[in-house]
Amino acid sequence: MIGAGRPGASLVTNTVEAVRLIRRTAPREYVLLLVCTIVSGLGLVLLLVAGRELIHDLTVSDRPDDIGPLVPSLVGIAVGTGLTTLASAVQAEVRWLMAHLVERQSVTAVVDAASAVSLAELESPDFQDHLQRTLRQAAQRPWDLVQAVSQLAGAAVGGVVGAVVLATVEPWLVPAALLVGLPVLLVAGRNSRAMFAAVSAITPVNREREYLQELLTGRDEAKEIRAFESVDHLRHRYEQRYDDEIEGFRVVSRLRSRRLFLAGIGSTLITVATLAVLVGLSVDGRLPLADAAIGAVAVQQLTMRVRGIGGSISSIQESSLFLDDHAAFVQRAARARVDDVPRDPARQPAPRGAAVALDDVSFTYPGATVPALRGVSLELRPGRVTALVGANGSGKTTIAKLICRLYEPDGGAVTWDAALAGSGELPRVGVIFQDFLRYQLSAHDNIALGDSRRHADRAGVEAGARAAGADTFLTRLTRGFDTWLSPSFEGGTDLSVGQWQRVAMARALFRDAPVVVLDEPTAALDPLAEREMIDGTTALFGDRAVLVISHRFANVVHADDIVVLSEGEIVERGTHETLMARGGTYAEMYTTQAAAFGTERHA
Ligand SMILES: Nc1ncnc2c1ncn2[C@@H]1O[C@H](COP(=O)(O)OP(=O)(O)OP(=O)(O)O)[C@@H](O)[C@H]1O
Ligand SMILES: [Mg+2]
Repeated sequence: MIGAGRPGASLVTNTVEAVRLIRRTAPREYVLLLVCTIVSGLGLVLLLVAGRELIHDLTVSDRPDDIGPLVPSLVGIAVGTGLTTLASAVQAEVRWLMAHLVERQSVTAVVDAASAVSLAELESPDFQDHLQRTLRQAAQRPWDLVQAVSQLAGAAVGGVVGAVVLATVEPWLVPAALLVGLPVLLVAGRNSRAMFAAVSAITPVNREREYLQELLTGRDEAKEIRAFESVDHLRHRYEQRYDDEIEGFRVVSRLRSRRLFLAGIGSTLITVATLAVLVGLSVDGRLPLADAAIGAVAVQQLTMRVRGIGGSISSIQESSLFLDDHAAFVQRAARARVDDVPRDPARQPAPRGAAVALDDVSFTYPGATVPALRGVSLELRPGRVTALVGANGSGKTTIAKLICRLYEPDGGAVTWDAALAGSGELPRVGVIFQDFLRYQLSAHDNIALGDSRRHADRAGVEAGARAAGADTFLTRLTRGFDTWLSPSFEGGTDLSVGQWQRVAMARALFRDAPVVVLDEPTAALDPLAEREMIDGTTALFGDRAVLVISHRFANVVHADDIVVLSEGEIVERGTHETLMARGGTYAEMYTTQAAAFGTERHA
């Protein structure tokens, strides 16, 4: 976007790019700001010219006796003041709007980029740091940038006026006065880089602090941190992280202040020298008093504006580094877009009769040392229920994620029946994750988000709710399906965990998908509800290919195929009867659970 990060990009290039960015994002406001700036400049010209006339009239020997001849210059001063005042009032409003528009554009670009990346990329700490930094800066930098660009325009116009007036008094004072901007510009690059480095270094601390803040203020977190009385401890850590952040900024701020202080001394000396020359010329009688006086005002104007220009350019320079970082983030995210994960062009379709198949799949999570899956092969067939069992951490959920194509396998392949593939080349999957989402939206939204293309289909939503046994309690809510499922919103309410699970099931059922993945779908259901859900499974899913993951054997015994996973590998497979007869891991797990209830299923 802006080129500060590119070697050789100059202050001028960055400034031009910044102006272009604003012009693109807020074209109307940009024009309005230009008009205001010009009006304000005209006001300033009028003020200086009329001021000069007035001083001249008051200091000449044949001074007028009454106010009459002074009226034109007085009116000029009044109109000049009025124009600059009005223009700056409008400018403030336009700047405010402009900054919002640029902020919206830059924040939305980050949101779009982050919401399209692969899960593997999204989970990486480096991506999270970059995301955090970019989001924060995307919200803040546009304000600085708009402020700086608008000040730059104002200062440039004021500077030109000052320079022209000064040139009519004493031309060679103009370049002398222009020198005041130099010291500020000399430190600008270093100061911006120091700030960028500080912000980058602080980001991980900042993320931790914001997470602690979320713990301390979040509704979902509130129960635990109060019940465990961990508020004070967390708050202490929150303060510590804040201290670390502030200390980081203090260090860079000290460094920057030292440089700016020296630059300020340089500019002041140049201003004083220029004024001294003017005074000297006047004392020598080489310059009339009116000219000297207006020359002094012009020097003051010019040096002030030139310092303003220097400051604005420094600020733009600093924002440029962050905007480059923003552009780098968007590019990085574009490279890791989930839609663009290179698909094997020679990918074979799933074996005949299978909706989805895993063929010798291995997978290690990014950053992990131990593979989560090793040589896993299994098929999900239409009209059949496949059950996946195994100890905690054995890789069951990982298989569910691979079927949903949230990750690409490192070895082997996930294939599917081409006839089932939707427009995105992938088969549609209806899924309940173990940690399914509880949207703080309406009950309707919670189900309809299973298939956004049919979001308005209330009859379908109600049918999904009925099939999952969620209709009885949802219709009883104050506003039925339109009730917000969060007490944090006006008129909203919360559900019990089991009710939430039924809503999640309704969402999966609402999605018209040939493949259904249920990861612990009945963990929170009461025994009767679980029985009902299991008995209804076959009828509910018809000819869909279903994968059920469960530790509850009641969910598993009726499955057409049972696959037993241990440490990422399939160790057994078969029906309940064959696996029981085999007397292996499955039989042991089943017997242990059955024994706990004092019952045994007699197959
Ligand atoms: N996002 C992740 N990043 C790194 N490692 C992960 C991630 N998710 C899971 N793992 C690891 O992968 C392994 C398999 O996890 P998985 O969630 O598939 O287990 P599971 O069989 O579903 O267990 P459970 O019965 O507890 O749900 C575990 O060792 C886990 O620590
Ligand atoms: Mg799991």
